Amino acid sequence: MLEDLERAYQNALAELDEVADQDALEAWRVRHLGRKAPLMRAYGRLRDLPPEERPQVGRRINAMRDHLQNAYEAKAHALREAALRRSLEEERIDVTLPGRPKPIGRLHPTTRTIRHIVRIFQDMGFQVFRSREVETDEYNFQLLNIPPHHPARDMQDTFYVRTPGAQEGETPPVVLRTHTSPGQIHAMRFYASLNPENPPPIRVVLPGMVFRYEQITARSEIQFTQVEGLVVGRNISFADLKGTLNEWARRMFGQHVRTRFRASYFPFTEPSAEMDVECFLCGGKGCPVCKYTGWLEVLGSGMVHPVVLKNGGYDPEKFTGFAFGMGPERITMLRHGIKDIRFFWSNDVRLLEQF
Ligand code: DAH
Repeated sequence: MLEDLERAYQNALAELDEVADQDALEAWRVRHLGRKAPLMRAYGRLRDLPPEERPQVGRRINAMRDHLQNAYEAKAHALREAALRRSLEEERIDVTLPGRPKPIGRLHPTTRTIRHIVRIFQDMGFQVFRSREVETDEYNFQLLNIPPHHPARDMQDTFYVRTPGAQEGETPPVVLRTHTSPGQIHAMRFYASLNPENPPPIRVVLPGMVFRYEQITARSEIQFTQVEGLVVGRNISFADLKGTLNEWARRMFGQHVRTRFRASYFPFTEPSAEMDVECFLCGGKGCPVCKYTGWLEVLGSGMVHPVVLKNGGYDPEKFTGFAFGMGPERITMLRHGIKDIRFFWSNDVRLLEQF
């Protein structure tokens, strides 16, 4: 009996050497250490032996079983180690590889300029007033003291959403706003509605998109932005206009920048003025950007026309105000030497990435 068991035992050890994975190992365990394994069954047959042989044979069987058990555990351990090594090797992450850069977006240069402009006015107590991009002819022109056929309309070629020259009773002409100035009327009417008998003072900026039906060139686009400003109150004077805009220019272009005001014309202001800042590229000495004048035109402004105040619900006998309008694209082009306004809309990341 022992001889058979010794053979089975040697056989089991040899087989174990060949085992290469968990499944084979489990099959091996069932075969050689399971209940039906020759070695295990041998326990039952011990009583067939003469009593004096039993202890010795029993000890030998125990020894073989223990050894197989140990060999099994060693093999199981080795297989687990090998599997772990393999998965570490296969799933290895090379942490020394440089990461893949995630493209992060950034703000459009026009947006940055608008925020810069608006922030300065906010510091001076202005609030942002949002206004619509699709307007009626009435708001875009008439309430701003630009009647039909007024020559000032030629300054702003217009996209009509509905046909101009609508007859009485027909729907009024609707336009894409050609400037942010109609927001002045909306702002005044809104604030006046809060207390029609005694309307509150106003200090707002109105940033937004405007549209003009123009030929697209390096200098003009059909779509661009403006930042409008409006101040209405009692005893607002031209000195307030100059003081406010000068302070804005200093914060926008530098503490020591000089400014000048030139008389101008806008239907919705009287008097009207354009503000120039000293060319910040050449310091006023003259260069191609300022066309050798030393000055850059940055905005239009003026005292709000009495007709416009009245249209907004503010009594021009009691209230005065000033307004201004500027073009963030133009300011951005001047500051960064951008030669072509079409870059703002061509969506070329080579431009956008520089900001
Ligand atoms: N609306 C004018 C334009 O688009 C700009 C402007 C000039 C706005 C004078 C104003 C202003 O508020 O007072 O050309």
